[in-house]
Amino acid sequence: MTDSPTSPAVDLSLYPDGTSLDAAGRLLVGGCAVADVAEKYGTPAYLVDEGALRRTARSYTDAFASRHPDSLVLFASKSFPSASVIGVVSEEGCGVDAAAAGELAMALAAGADPARIVFHGNAKTDDDLLSALTAAVRYVVVDNLDDVERIARLAQEPVPVLLRVSPSLDAKTHTAMMTGHDASKFGIPSDQVADVIRRIRRESMLDLRGLHAHVGSQLLDLDQFEAAVRAVAAFERFGVYDLGGGLGVRYTSADAAPSVEDYADRLVTAVHRHLGADVELMVEPGRSMVARNGITAYRVVTVKRGVRTHVAVDGGMGDNLEVSLYGQAFQPSVVDRSGPAEIVDLVGRHCESGDELAHGVEVVSPRVGDLVTVPVTGAYCYTMSNNYNAALRPPVVFCRDGESRLAVRRETFEDLVRRECLLPGAD
Ligand SMILES: Cc1ncc(COP(=O)(O)O)c(C=O)c1O
Repeated sequence: MTDSPTSPAVDLSLYPDGTSLDAAGRLLVGGCAVADVAEKYGTPAYLVDEGALRRTARSYTDAFASRHPDSLVLFASKSFPSASVIGVVSEEGCGVDAAAAGELAMALAAGADPARIVFHGNAKTDDDLLSALTAAVRYVVVDNLDDVERIARLAQEPVPVLLRVSPSLDAKTHTAMMTGHDASKFGIPSDQVADVIRRIRRESMLDLRGLHAHVGSQLLDLDQFEAAVRAVAAFERFGVYDLGGGLGVRYTSADAAPSVEDYADRLVTAVHRHLGADVELMVEPGRSMVARNGITAYRVVTVKRGVRTHVAVDGGMGDNLEVSLYGQAFQPSVVDRSGPAEIVDLVGRHCESGDELAHGVEVVSPRVGDLVTVPVTGAYCYTMSNNYNAALRPPVVFCRDGESRLAVRRETFEDLVRRECLLPGAD
């Protein structure tokens, strides 16, 4: 059961840039002791290193602007759809990729400039489109022929649009993260693109400016981005290209991922070679913007030793669906104390056997009440948080220069009950 006498080290390279241990060995994120943040705001909690997030956003905008001045980095807000997070990256020069009316509302609440918002959705309703037209976003991305019909019917003046095309590529990633193949529900299959372009041009209320393509998410091989640019170049040429997001990140010590600089280098070089140096270029990073800048803090609730050692914490698939949805590997740690190592399954508190946060991981032999951190949870965890077992969605705490502040408060049972309309005694 106990596998090694040595205390496993926390791999700080998976944590936000600047994470350290203090003299007492306590983990500091954004200069704040995670233990203090956990004490103050409770667990589970999402911690975001605000300074590290700002640096990532700035490094993204600088990486593209220095290689291609007519570029715009749009934060894919689906990866962390909180107005507080959108506000921070906007302040660092990013625009916003907003899918449907909800993300647009978040972006506008954050003070994002509509002229730097690109509007998405594979099933946009009339209400979604009306919200985008009212806000006067930079581009609406047409995903299907029904978008064409709806925009033509709803618009009062010509709407600048991009057409989402399928680059017909099988991305090397989890099947659920592949979006650029011809069987995908997103975008127009390559053999229909020319027809759809003709169809759009028959509508006076649609002003077709360019093309959009997104291959998939968690891509670790830069060749895929170059292949997407080549595929897009095979269609009619335009002056505007939005090449989506997709850059992958490290989740465990064993992973390797390209840097933002390497990605920008490869992508811009490919754009200049295949599409031209004078195009307006957009990219939509989500995961690579936020993943490493966020961690989740939990407390151990119970330890059950048997055929396997199950360490159950006070969260789980209610705050992290990446594991059950994609089988994503995470590398948790029992922090702030040393001790013998043990191989455990870190499990959640929800009524599913699949409710696991990490399988067969080595941690300091856990005890009830221990603080557990899971790094690289900044992307798509808050996004997919849910109320399984009527659990309360965790707060988001910004940590910066040793100060913590609440960005999103924890849900309350009153929040949950307030939506119920048929309670006894209610009129
Ligand atoms: C159209 C579009 N753009 C951008 C993204 C962000 O991708 P990622 O988080 O992998 O960077 C996605 C996510 O799948 C997407 O569908």
